[in-house]
Amino acid sequence: MPRRDFLGAAWAGLGLLAALGTGYVGLRYLTSQTAAGEFGSVIAAGVIEDFPPGTVTAFPNGKFYLARGADGGFLALYQKCTHLACVVLWHETDGQFYCPCHGSRFLADGTVLNRPAFRALTRFPVTFDGDSVSVDTGTPIEQDTVAAEDIAYPAGASESAS
Ligand code: FES
Repeated sequence: MPRRDFLGAAWAGLGLLAALGTGYVGLRYLTSQTAAGEFGSVIAAGVIEDFPPGTVTAFPNGKFYLARGADGGFLALYQKCTHLACVVLWHETDGQFYCPCHGSRFLADGTVLNRPAFRALTRFPVTFDGDSVSVDTGTPIEQDTVAAEDIAYPAGASESAS
């Protein structure tokens, strides 16, 4: 094969590879769009009455816990440990999250109790529409500590109730 023909074929091959790569990336982007109700989307958790004050409810498919404080405020906490991303487990008897990997523990509001994790559990925004509670699992909020303004209260309730 003459050198000129070989170089032409090589360039054509590279062009074809680039086009295939671009198409693959585009296809991956389109198929990665999150369906409603799955992790990464806004998830309808239920109605306020489903979550009595002082409870923690697991949403395995949404990868979060919905914690409701004794004052009626809500926090949605990512199940991923802030140390090395193991799934933390809620222990009802102790009122704490335990990480089975390296022993970190967290309070029900996500505050670190025991290292090696040094950041509070990541949270997700909680919103209310009437009595309905929704959690936006597509918007993780990393936090070192938990502040009072991080807690979401339904209309008619307030943090002053605590
Ligand atoms: S991953 Fe949780 S303590 Fe290490």
